[in-house]
Amino acid sequence: MRILGIETSCDETSAAVIQNDAVLSNIISSQQVHMQFGGVVPELASRAHLRKILPIVAEALEKAETPMEELDGIAVTHGPGLIGALMVGVNYAKAMSAVLDKPLVGVNHIEGHVYSNFLDEAPVELPMICLIVSGGHTQIVRMDGPLQYEILGKTRDDAVGEAYDKVAKLLGLPYPGGPQVDKLAKEGDDRFCDFPIGLYKEKTFDFSYSGLKTAVLTKVRELGDEAVQEHLADICASFQRAAVSVLVKRTIRAARENNIKQITVAGGVAANSLLRSEMKHQAEKHHINVYCPPMKYCTDNAAMIARAGLERLRHGQQSTNRMNAYPALLLGDEKSYL
Ligand code: KG4
Ligand code: ZN
Repeated sequence: MRILGIETSCDETSAAVIQNDAVLSNIISSQQVHMQFGGVVPELASRAHLRKILPIVAEALEKAETPMEELDGIAVTHGPGLIGALMVGVNYAKAMSAVLDKPLVGVNHIEGHVYSNFLDEAPVELPMICLIVSGGHTQIVRMDGPLQYEILGKTRDDAVGEAYDKVAKLLGLPYPGGPQVDKLAKEGDDRFCDFPIGLYKEKTFDFSYSGLKTAVLTKVRELGDEAVQEHLADICASFQRAAVSVLVKRTIRAARENNIKQITVAGGVAANSLLRSEMKHQAEKHHINVYCPPMKYCTDNAAMIARAGLERLRHGQQSTNRMNAYPALLLGDEKSYL
């Protein structure tokens, strides 16, 4: 099956063509306009998607050497995300499906991240525990079979990527801050500050990052500008230790308690060097396999949306032309929103 995927839920306009697990093209245009504001501005995101959607889809089809008529279906992110941004992709996909008379399927963005683990013959076995970490999400999902998910835990406030970005902002680092903090952390002393770990004492698979973010803010005020500049790397390293250790600890515990031998890590924060190495190191001790998709499939992209859509179409699930954009769509709910 050849599927066109479309992703416009946040600040990446992306289109991809896949044939079964093989990615034939995966074009991603990241919006630069938000940099000057230190975060995504929804209205500007929608406008940029409108400008980009046509050329990006055309480029994806051309690179995959696939004329529109040869597609077997169109998959599009229909939630969760920014309403205006989602609507650009959803309406474009609906129009395309109506004109070409091709099956249309709505895909949950989180489901897309889960399916980023099944591209290009990835060595992943089910059941698995998938940690999804991005600017908008922090979740531990158990997956037993195709399209079967159970959310074991999620953040009660900020997402981990959001915490990275906010900490970077208050340290005066450019947006998005995750990669900058990660880079600086490598040269710092991670014991410089003892930052609190959210919900540390609770036996839960949930997360909380708002306390950690506030603790960094308090420390920065206490130190003053000069000392902050002098200890930038140390603050980053201490923050990173707190942010990552809880992700690793809870994911490994989820796998052990569920007797599951496969862990996967997806989403933009899966690029984090400490998260990747610590997860592998700790999992090895319990003979658990860890797989992180290549970076191009970790950050927002349409190949993962096409792959999840393909699975839905294979299982006879299809959207009608009544499908809409659902900004607060939950994983597991999408069947009633197709
Ligand atoms: O999945 P993604 O591209 O978009 C969302 O759905 O949010 O994730 C972007 C997030 C940003 O918060 C960015 O700071 C974070 O991923 N990120 C990182 C790293 N690279 C990207 N966070 C920590 N360490 C990194 N190396
Ligand atoms: Zn995402």
